[in-house]
Amino acid sequence: DKREFRHFMLKEIHEQPETAALWVSRHLPEGLPASMPVALPFDEAFYAGIERIEILACGTSRHAALVGAHLLEQFAGLPTAVHYASEFRYAPPPLAPNTLTIGVTQSGETADTLAALAMEAQRRCAHPDPAYASRQLGVTNRPESSLSRQVPHILDIGAGVEVGVAATKTFTGQLLAFYGLAMAFATRSGSRSAAEIQTLADELRMLPQQLQELVSLHDQRSEALAHRFAETQDVIFLGRGINYPIALEGALKLKEISYIHAEGYPAGEMKHGPIALLDAHVPVVSIAVPGTVFEKVLSNAQEAKARDARLIGVAPEGPDTALFDDLLPVPEVSEWLSPLLTVVPMQLLSYHIAAHRGLDVDQPRNLAKSVTVE
Ligand code: M6R
Repeated sequence: DKREFRHFMLKEIHEQPETAALWVSRHLPEGLPASMPVALPFDEAFYAGIERIEILACGTSRHAALVGAHLLEQFAGLPTAVHYASEFRYAPPPLAPNTLTIGVTQSGETADTLAALAMEAQRRCAHPDPAYASRQLGVTNRPESSLSRQVPHILDIGAGVEVGVAATKTFTGQLLAFYGLAMAFATRSGSRSAAEIQTLADELRMLPQQLQELVSLHDQRSEALAHRFAETQDVIFLGRGINYPIALEGALKLKEISYIHAEGYPAGEMKHGPIALLDAHVPVVSIAVPGTVFEKVLSNAQEAKARDARLIGVAPEGPDTALFDDLLPVPEVSEWLSPLLTVVPMQLLSYHIAAHRGLDVDQPRNLAKSVTVE
């Protein structure tokens, strides 16, 4: 039932404050001790001795994994690699000891992700040294799926049924799962003080309210902006650091539902080739949030502007961001939290561009909700 919404995708974007609130109530209930700042369904043996993480995923789930890897490395201090499941199957890296392998798949049915996990479990089982034993976790929205029959531990993102082929609320649900894991590992690795972990937990508790405001604001702003994309054929999305995967996700969302060619790049990479594409017909969407790479992203955006590109900023309002021709404003939060907010204007912009073009947003051509063949 789409209720008052024109498409399931729009409904599911609007459900994100609710699914975030549910996640907070489950995993960040008030009164958790500092020694356990996040409640996850695992015992100590699950975490014991893990020294590195490998993540296997496809599509949007892989983008969530890239944000997760940033958090696991930069916040929790654990070396983490993300692989396309389809590539990992035929070119797995050499085995490393004490590794947790995480499969991320909202449907729990993606053939490449399941096969890559199975292959990894098999080669680890064949290893004589117990340090190389298989340790696997699945992050999914379908705890009853094939994934859960295959891996010993499941983190259920609990986002509720998602009908639209374009993943939206399951993406933010996967991100939240990684925030939970990063806090849990940071507590054990000692990479962050209890106060730092607590600050992140407190920020996450405020997220549902911020998402609520953001979704309402951007539904209107993106709809107004979408009209300008009637003739657009190519769009570049730029981000850096923890928001680089959000640039990839913005580009994927736009491609899959509006059929507009879009590319996501780490902003600093633009001058190594893609800048040649830019002119007045190629809009550039830049994610620029205060933090370690703010100035850098702004100067990358300036370079695009010098090539006459129309600049759309996903950034806080203020003098620093006056260079953008159009601003999709996001509130100022810590850089750690920012992907959970910057993705919302991306989703809504893609949605409104596709809806404005009269396309079948929920059932885009050539795509299925879960890809159960190789
Ligand atoms: O069910 P999964 O999370 O494993 O699906 C992976 C991809 O097929 C999926 O994310 C796809 O990219 C979506 N259509 C993105 O919106």
